[in-house]
Amino acid sequence: MILPTLPPASFAEADIDIAVLASGSGTNLQALIDSPQVRPHIKLVLSDNDSAMALRRAERSGIETAVVRWEDHDDRTEFSTAVADVIEGRGAKGVVLAGFMRILAPAFIERFPDRILNIHPSLLPSFTGAHAVEAALAHGVKVTGVTVHLVDEEVDHGPIIAQEPVVVRPGDTVETLHRRIQAVEHVLYPAIVEAFVSGELWLDGKEPG
Ligand code: GRF
Repeated sequence: MILPTLPPASFAEADIDIAVLASGSGTNLQALIDSPQVRPHIKLVLSDNDSAMALRRAERSGIETAVVRWEDHDDRTEFSTAVADVIEGRGAKGVVLAGFMRILAPAFIERFPDRILNIHPSLLPSFTGAHAVEAALAHGVKVTGVTVHLVDEEVDHGPIIAQEPVVVRPGDTVETLHRRIQAVEHVLYPAIVEAFVSGELWLDGKEPG
């Protein structure tokens, strides 16, 4: 795995606290909670969905939670600003997306420049979007994988920090393939987030086209 990325200045600050944003089951959040290096940096788990299992995982671990409901806001910018306000209000400086199913507006990205990470279940730039595993399988690729990247204003775009391949097996279903992808995610994401909160993340300088 290659960690190195980013101009040093972007991540000069060590010991940053993070908010983890999740909408669903939160298995990636759990992997972060289970990392002794990452856990002390998780200030907040925020969801758009008050029945997200991710919130229960946070509560079980004594981590503060917050819910910002999409339905309570007029548009994407207003929703995104409300999310950013909560994160800043709790003192988090970095944002880790872990299955957060809402697209955040540019107004949000600008508030946390170079400080938002996402994990995506494909080898970007292939198969962006919410159905990456299905799309890779339908396309018949023989290798797919996991990407961790910095978030910019385009969906599943932004500088790539790390990737790991996952071989597609004959007879794979979306469920079997996604399970193996998630097993890789649960190792890769804590390693990258650990570097992120420690100020040790570097990019190799390439920007996505
Ligand atoms: C993961 O597969 C991740 O790649 C994608 O959303 C999924 C979230 O799963 N962005 P979980 O909620 O962490 O179990």
